[in-house]
Amino acid sequence: MANNEDLFKKIISHAKEYGFVFQSSEIYDGLSAVYDYGQNGAELKNNIKEYWWKSMVRYHENIVGIDSAIFMHPTIWKASGHVDAFNDPMIDNKDSKKRYRADVLVEEFIAKTEDKIAKEVEKAVKRFGDAFDETQYRATNPRVLEYQAKIDNAKGRLYGGLEKNDLADIKKLIEDLEIVCPISGSRNWTEVRQFNLMFSTQMGSVSEDANTIYLRPETAQGIFVNFLNVMKTGRMKIPFGIAQIGKAFRNEIVARQFIFRMREFEQMEMQFFVKPGTELKWFEAWKQERLNWHLSLGIPAKYYRFHDHEKLAHYANAASDIEFDFPIGFKELEGIHSRTDFDLSAHQKFSGKKITYFDPELNESYVPYVVETSIGLDRTFLAMMSFAYTEERLEDGSERVVMKLPPILAPVKAAVLPLVAKDGLPEKGREIMDVLKYDFNCQYEEKDSIGKRYRRQDAIGTPYCITVDHQTLEDGTVTIRERDTMKQERIDISLISNIINERLKVKR
Ligand code: GAP
Repeated sequence: MANNEDLFKKIISHAKEYGFVFQSSEIYDGLSAVYDYGQNGAELKNNIKEYWWKSMVRYHENIVGIDSAIFMHPTIWKASGHVDAFNDPMIDNKDSKKRYRADVLVEEFIAKTEDKIAKEVEKAVKRFGDAFDETQYRATNPRVLEYQAKIDNAKGRLYGGLEKNDLADIKKLIEDLEIVCPISGSRNWTEVRQFNLMFSTQMGSVSEDANTIYLRPETAQGIFVNFLNVMKTGRMKIPFGIAQIGKAFRNEIVARQFIFRMREFEQMEMQFFVKPGTELKWFEAWKQERLNWHLSLGIPAKYYRFHDHEKLAHYANAASDIEFDFPIGFKELEGIHSRTDFDLSAHQKFSGKKITYFDPELNESYVPYVVETSIGLDRTFLAMMSFAYTEERLEDGSERVVMKLPPILAPVKAAVLPLVAKDGLPEKGREIMDVLKYDFNCQYEEKDSIGKRYRRQDAIGTPYCITVDHQTLEDGTVTIRERDTMKQERIDISLISNIINERLKVKR
């Protein structure tokens, strides 16, 4: 999918029009980068959570799930490094007054330069045909070499600058690369400054006694500080995992991409505790396992790619993102990180409590290593909406927007629609609805023409519409219309549940 702002705008307005996502506090003109989920959005979000939880916690016998508090002891964030190092380098453009992440400006420059190389290669493939040797071309073509040198220089200075906290050189790099503000088009930049992303608040009734506490910026720390509790009470044996779904908060500098980057969002995280030395094997296994999870939803593989990190966080010895092809380009959807024993060791040091595992096979204790999988719930939601949104021109010349959501995630699984609101059809429809609604989220609708009702269900991604007509009263059959093909079949009422269930199965 190409970078497609128009499509992105259409998805955003569709999300609002059909009750998926609303701007928070809209009647007060909104709150920046905070969103509410509407009646269909809440269902879709819950379905994603349930699917993740089932595949991680139920499917893996050695993974358990917890639900830890958002507020935690403030020292936890000192130990984890967030108080000192959870910063983004920011820079303002003095003319547009817009704020940017300095590293993102440079990374966008790098991505554009990589695109230029890809275009040169594409042209050469066309020119030389079968005789083309890409490796040799990349190693010798002067223009490609010039672009590559620019990329290497930008990367070296950016990552070096971040490592050494040399913010002056990052500003100089932005100037040297002649990066302009996309809004004002000017190069009138402020200095680069570090900006801590954690929200803080006060706990305690009297201000002098009050402690500064933080809204958690990741759910992972709630897992680390409960490692001993879960290990002991669950009698867990390494390797084992602890999973959790919950809210996280970050005061993001750049938050202009709908629910892609929010200040309040949800994460689905799992920390997998392993024997030191085996972490890279588990890291590879979890990379594959998580990619398979995405693919099991039936979305084609071309929408996903790995992005292995060149610059590792101070606590990691390997890291990779699963990126999704959003309308705004390939972007991070999930991170898989080999976090070593950094977090548990830090909590051991700061809390003064021993945090080790006694390995009966080795007959010794050690601080386990950790492989983490961390996926954004809201980003998964956006990925599903982006993939699903489809405009179709039909044979009769009319158009429809259909959300081709994976059926297991669709907010409504079936709609029961009496053809007309008389002659006993509504009563029959209600009877069917009453049976189905215990197993599936269903909607009953009798207002408007059947065509309009089909369009409304297409627009929220309902896999099946069940129409009750006069024949239903005679022989107990209904028509069942499938969302994507729009094909209708006449079936016995007793078969409806099986057909829906069959469609909800996922391929593992
Ligand atoms: N515990 C590791 C961790 O938090 P991360 O890469 O900072 O790692 C993990 O975040 C995932 O959380 C990301 O891949 C993304 O899907 C989601 N995420 C992070 N920041 C977000 C934001 N501001 N808005 C929405 N989702 C976000």
